Amino acid sequence: MLVLGIETSCDETAAAVVEGSGRVRSNIVLSQLDEHRPYGGVVPEIAARGHVLHLDRLIIRAMAEASLDFADLDGVAATAGPGLIGGLMVGLTTAKAIAAVHELPLIAVNHLEAHALTPRLGQSLAFPYLLLLISGGHCQFLMVEDVGAYRRLGTTLDDALGEAFDKAARMMGLPYPGGPAIEDAARSGDADRFDLPRPMAGRPGCDFSFSGLKTAVRKTITDLPGSPPRARDVADLCASFQAAVADVLEDRLGHAAAAFHGAHGRGGALVVAGGVAANRYLRQRLAASAARFDLGLVAPAPALCTDNAAIVAWAGVERLRHGFTDPLDVAARPRWPLDPEAKPAIGAGVKA
Ligand code: KG4
Ligand code: ZN
Repeated sequence: MLVLGIETSCDETAAAVVEGSGRVRSNIVLSQLDEHRPYGGVVPEIAARGHVLHLDRLIIRAMAEASLDFADLDGVAATAGPGLIGGLMVGLTTAKAIAAVHELPLIAVNHLEAHALTPRLGQSLAFPYLLLLISGGHCQFLMVEDVGAYRRLGTTLDDALGEAFDKAARMMGLPYPGGPAIEDAARSGDADRFDLPRPMAGRPGCDFSFSGLKTAVRKTITDLPGSPPRARDVADLCASFQAAVADVLEDRLGHAAAAFHGAHGRGGALVVAGGVAANRYLRQRLAASAARFDLGLVAPAPALCTDNAAIVAWAGVERLRHGFTDPLDVAARPRWPLDPEAKPAIGAGVKA
C-alpha cells in the first residue's frame, strides 16, 4: 500500500509518501519559520499564502523522491483539521484534486490522529496505549484504543504547552520557536534558583493549565536586574521553567495512568508526541515518571514528533486499512476533537 500525505494545518508545508510496511519513501517539510519569526508566532494569512505558493512543488518532489506516479498510489491523505482554516483548505483541496483526477480514495485526516498513530509508524506498538500530546496547539492525555477510537482524559484549560514555551521565551527575549531556545538555555541553568508554581498539581483529574506559570515567569523577569535580563539569569529561569513543567506533567501523568490502568489493566505504554516531545530534558523526566507509574515510555524520533506529512500519510494507511475513506465534498474543520464525547475545555485558544 502506498499513500501520499499532505500537511498544511499550521506553518509547515509538507508532503510525504509512506508504504503500508511503515517505510517512509519520501518526507519533505518546508518550514515557514523565517516568515513568522518577526511576529513571534504564526500569522494565519501568511501561512495560507505560503502553502499556496509551495505545496504543488513539494508534492511533485515527494513523488519524484519516492520514484512514483500518481497512478501507483492507493490513496491520498490530507490533514483536514484541527488547525488554521486557510492552510487546511489549501492542503485538502489539493488532495481532492489529485484524488478526483487519478480516481484515488481520499482520506481526510485529523491532525491529532496523525500524532496519535505516529508511534506505530516503523515500529510495532499494539493498541491500547496512553498518549500525551504536547505541541504548539495541543496539550492532552488520550487513551488510544484503536484506529478511530480515542478517549480524551484531560486537556489544557488555557495555553497549550508549546504555546507556554513560546510565550515564556518571548518574555525572556529568546527567539521563536521558544521550545528549542529554552531547552538550549536551560542546559547551563540552575533549576532550583527560581521557585515557580506547578499549576493543577495535587488536583484531581488530568487537565492542565499554564497561564499561572506564564504569569510567574513574567513577574520573575520584572524583578530581575537588567533589561534585557542577563544570560545567567535567563539560563536559570529556563531551567526552573522546564523543571516546573516536568513536575506538572508527572503529577498529571499519575492520574492519567490510574485511568488507563483502570480501563485496560496494569502495564502498557505511554507515548509522547507533538513538538514539545522533542525536548530531551522532558523526555528523560517523563521516562522516569512513566516507570514510576508502571508504564514504558515510547517516544517517536524527534523528526516525526514535529509536524510533517509522513505522519499524515501513515494515518491515511491505517484508516484505509479499516476502509475509512471520505467523500470529495468533505469539509476542513478548524476545530475537530478526536474524542467526540469529550466536553469542550473552558478557556480561550484551545483548538480541541
Ligand atoms: O507539533 P508542532 O511542530 O506543531 C503543532 O502542531 O503545534 O509543535 C510546535 C511546538 C512549538 O510551540 C515549539 O516551541 C515546541 O513545539 N517545541 C519544543 C521543542 N521543539 C519544539 N518545546 C520544547 N522543547 C523543544 N525542544
Ligand atoms: Zn502537530
